[in-house]
Amino acid sequence: MKRLAIIGSGDLALQIAHHAIFDNHYSVVGCFDDYKEEGDFNKNLLILGKLDMIESCYKNDVFDVLIIGIGYNHMDFRNQLFTRYKNIIPFGTIIHSSCQIDKSTMIGSGSIIYPGCNFDMNVEIGENCLIYNGCIIAHDSKIATNSILSPGVNLAGFCFIGENTNFGIGTIISDNVTIVNNVRTGAGAVVVKSISVSGLYVGIPAKKVK
Ligand SMILES: CC(C)(COP(=O)(O)OP(=O)(O)OC[C@H]1O[C@@H](n2cnc3c(N)ncnc32)[C@H](O)[C@@H]1OP(=O)(O)O)[C@@H](O)C(=O)NCCC(=O)NCCS
Repeated sequence: MKRLAIIGSGDLALQIAHHAIFDNHYSVVGCFDDYKEEGDFNKNLLILGKLDMIESCYKNDVFDVLIIGIGYNHMDFRNQLFTRYKNIIPFGTIIHSSCQIDKSTMIGSGSIIYPGCNFDMNVEIGENCLIYNGCIIAHDSKIATNSILSPGVNLAGFCFIGENTNFGIGTIISDNVTIVNNVRTGAGAVVVKSISVSGLYVGIPAKKVK
């Protein structure tokens, strides 16, 4: 079994470690965090060092694959980290065994698919995405790199979602909708038309508020 190291040591990192271990994807050797001391623990997650130790630990055979455990409050930092390491260190991917994923679906490295997701024919999920519990993505819809879908997001067919997306819990995207990079939605937003301007959208139908 390959050995996983996680960037970040907070709640998201603990969730990733939990699914990696208990759903039999990876053993977990620990995590990197600039705000913690090497050798400390968060619960059972060992701090391997600060982020500047990632490359040396990989070269010293401490771990085999990396996953970013930094959440939606730091979208740019997630992106920077993935861009920095993706050509140097292999990224892991976790697709929880409870998901129903059509064989034609493509899922990029570094992405995590939480329990209970359902992806239909020709769905594509980019690299370094977090797709939380129970998201449904219908046929032929695509989500670009470094995007986060909160629990219970539903996408209809033929949707094209840009990079650095952060959809709030229960967001619904109607069919044939295209959304530019850097769009956030509030909880329960319903997007019925394509979005061509980045920003925060809330409500039904979703309107730009920031
Ligand atoms: C939209 C959101 C990002 C705004 O957060 P915020 O910037 O802190 O804004 P506030 O909570 O101060 O709300 C500002 C206004 O928008 C309204 N509002 C907030 N969230 C809303 C939503 N989802 N739909 C409609 N209106 C919303 C508030 O009622 C408030 O209205 P008011 O100014 O008339 O009182 C946040 O409310 C939200 O929905 N986050 C998603 C959370 C989520 O999905 N978490 C899952 C993590 S896995």
